[in-house]
Amino acid sequence: MSALVPSLVHAFAPWQHLYGDSKAVSAAVTTVHLVAMLFGGGYAVAADRTTLRARSGDVGERRRMLGELHALHTPVVVALIVLFLSGAAMAAADIETFSKSPVFIAKLGVVALLLVNGLMLLRAERSLERIGQPAPADEVAVQRQATVWRQLRATAWASAALWTAAVVTGVLLTNAA
Ligand code: HEM
Repeated sequence: MSALVPSLVHAFAPWQHLYGDSKAVSAAVTTVHLVAMLFGGGYAVAADRTTLRARSGDVGERRRMLGELHALHTPVVVALIVLFLSGAAMAAADIETFSKSPVFIAKLGVVALLLVNGLMLLRAERSLERIGQPAPADEVAVQRQATVWRQLRATAWASAALWTAAVVTGVLLTNAA
């Protein structure tokens, strides 16, 4: 690690100068970061709300909700990729500061948890699609479905909390890196 930071600082020195000297460049990168957060976080938290409001008895509503959740994966993943690229560009503009920042490490930890939670959401969604609508007499399948719905609800609560934590650590990073 001791050799890595100085060599990264050297490699990104031209970008650090451009980012530091040009308000237009730094404003553009920060804007891309915040717009990606607006759409990625906005879609994700709205989907979390829909998941948490889906009534257990309404099969049709739940099927529509799963379809909506499925359709939102692509825009959220695209927004996360843009958040990564713009975030890395901002971090590369001041490696010395961010490499020593516990807030930056905490933020990357939050983002990593957000990705793991996303995979758990995807797995629960796929399980529910596979289970489909079991016959009421099939107690094992009905029980399994109830368990997976609880898992899906848990990922919705975790998603809302982690997106919020990513924003809070982002603002802290800007003010206290
Ligand atoms: C869910 C993902 C993310 C969200 C919601 C998010 C949100 C934010 C927010 C709200 C800010 C404050 C911007 C400002 O006040 O100007 C910020 C700053 C920042 N973010 Fe992110 N971010 C995310 C992912 C990332 C990733 C993956 C990285 C790094 C690879 C990153 C690196 C940064 C850096 C370095 C800053 C500080 C910029 C500065 O001080 O000028 N972010 N982020």
